[in-house]
Amino acid sequence: MIINSKVILRDKRLADAIEDYAWRTDPELAQLDAAPLLTTTFPQYLLDYTNELRHPLSTRHRFAIETLEGKHIGNCVYYGIDETRGEAELGIIIGNRDYWNKGYGADTVTTLVHYIFHQTNLKRIYLKTLDSNTRAQKCFKKCGFTPYGHLVRDGFSFVLMEINRKQWQQQQAEQG
Ligand SMILES: CC(C)(COP(=O)(O)OP(=O)(O)OC[C@H]1O[C@@H](n2cnc3c(N)ncnc32)[C@H](O)[C@@H]1OP(=O)(O)O)[C@@H](O)C(=O)NCCC(=O)NCCS
Repeated sequence: MIINSKVILRDKRLADAIEDYAWRTDPELAQLDAAPLLTTTFPQYLLDYTNELRHPLSTRHRFAIETLEGKHIGNCVYYGIDETRGEAELGIIIGNRDYWNKGYGADTVTTLVHYIFHQTNLKRIYLKTLDSNTRAQKCFKKCGFTPYGHLVRDGFSFVLMEINRKQWQQQQAEQG
């Protein structure tokens, strides 16, 4: 469990499945994330969910995002962990709309980046977000990510952003 000023990041658990399913079947969230809308039934989802919890991938580390009061508001992850290249991709979703634009995203990303650079040997964290998702881009910039390119895939246009360990250390030093 990792605690910061607004959020707690903790391991995923079975009780998260109901909210996760609701978020994965929400058309607006799918659109913002350029993700396919989930069409499986809840019982099937629960079965896959249980399997994933029992047999986690070694190339992915997922966390639930909770408020300091213990409310589950979203998820974050680093995945595609490549030990040879020393990098991984970061993902985040605040599924509960009541918690958008209140700094929970930035606190989560800052916390996760801090965790990755402290607990692993990874040197670079990257992400992609839709060109049109200016809120997400602003959130990531606040956390020290910088744009480094564009990607068009499956008809979606993405901004690519990254932060490397040296930049992060420099930012930490500047912030005292
Ligand atoms: C993207 C997301 C993680 C950001 O988290 P958040 O807690 O809402 O973001 P924060 O409050 O930390 O930062 C957002 C910033 O963007 C600003 N903002 C909000 N809407 C904006 C817009 N349309 N244009 C520009 N800036 C905007 C906010 O004012 C805030 O800046 P400020 O702190 O200077 O006021 C979260 O909103 C989310 O998960 N949204 C739904 C799914 C989604 O977008 N998924 C894609 C993720 S890649």
